[in-house]
Amino acid sequence: MEWGMANRLAQLIQPDGHALFLPVDHGYFQGPTRKLEEPGKTIKPLLPYADALFVTRGVLRSSVEPGNSKPVILRVSGGTSMVGKDLANEGITTSMEEAVRLNASAVGISVFVGSDYEKESLLNLAKLVDDGERYGIPVMAVTAVGKEMEKRDARYLALACRIAAELGARVVKTYWCEHFEKVTGGCPVPVVMAGGPQVDTEFEVFEFVHDGIQKGSIGVNLGRNIWQNEFPVAMIKAIRAIVHGKAVSREAQEIYDGEKAGKAKQS
Ligand code: 5RP
Repeated sequence: MEWGMANRLAQLIQPDGHALFLPVDHGYFQGPTRKLEEPGKTIKPLLPYADALFVTRGVLRSSVEPGNSKPVILRVSGGTSMVGKDLANEGITTSMEEAVRLNASAVGISVFVGSDYEKESLLNLAKLVDDGERYGIPVMAVTAVGKEMEKRDARYLALACRIAAELGARVVKTYWCEHFEKVTGGCPVPVVMAGGPQVDTEFEVFEFVHDGIQKGSIGVNLGRNIWQNEFPVAMIKAIRAIVHGKAVSREAQEIYDGEKAGKAKQS
C-alpha cells in the first residue's frame, strides 16, 4: 500500500485496530434531522471522543473549526432526498480534488444493492475507488441505507458488504444483525457498524456494538443513537469504552449512568 493511503487509514483506524467514527451527514438527504438542526452545536462536545467525523463539505465548512478537528471522512454521494422519488438514485456530488482541498482522510459513498439503481451506485463506487486510489484516499462504502435497510439480515448485508469490498472499498459501513460473523467473515476489508434510527434503550445499543465487535467488526460509524440521546456525551463515552476499552455492555451502561448522574447534578 502507498504511504499516503496507509497514513490516511492509520488516522482513521487506531493502533488497537478499532475505530469510532461519528457520522453527522444525515442532512444531505434528511434535511435538519432531530438534534442535528445546528450541526456545530451537536458536533462540538462529541468531537474529543470520536476518531473521525463523517460529514458533507457543506457542514464541514460551515460548522467545524479547521483548527480543532478530527480526521474527516467526506460524504461525496447524494443528489436525492427522502421526499423524492427514489433515495437510491444517487450520484457523486463532490470531486476528489475537493476532497484533497478539504484535507479529507477518506471519502464515503452509499451503495444500494438490490435497488433499481444497484448498477449505477456500484459503478459510482468503482469510479470513486479509481479516483481515490490515484490520490491515496481510501473509500468507505455505506451499505443498506433507506429502503434497502429493511433487508437487514446477514445474507443481504454479507452480500452488499462483499460486493463493496470487491469493488475496492477500503472500509465498509453496514448495520449490525444476528449472526454478524457471516457479514464480517465474508468481507475482506474492515467493517464498521451504523445504528439506524434511535432504539428504545441505551443498553440495546451497547449490546449490539459489543456483539458486533466480538464478531469481527472494527468499530462503529454511529450517529443518531449517540447524538439523539438525551445525554450524548455520556453515550459516546460509553460506546468508546466498548470500542477501544474492551468494556462489556454492563460496564458501558455503568459509564453512561455515571456520566448522566454527574450531568444531572451539575444542572
Ligand atoms: C446516512 C449514513 C449515516 O452515516 C449512517 O447511517 C450512520 O448513522 P446512524 O447511526 O444514525 O444510522 O450513512 O446516510
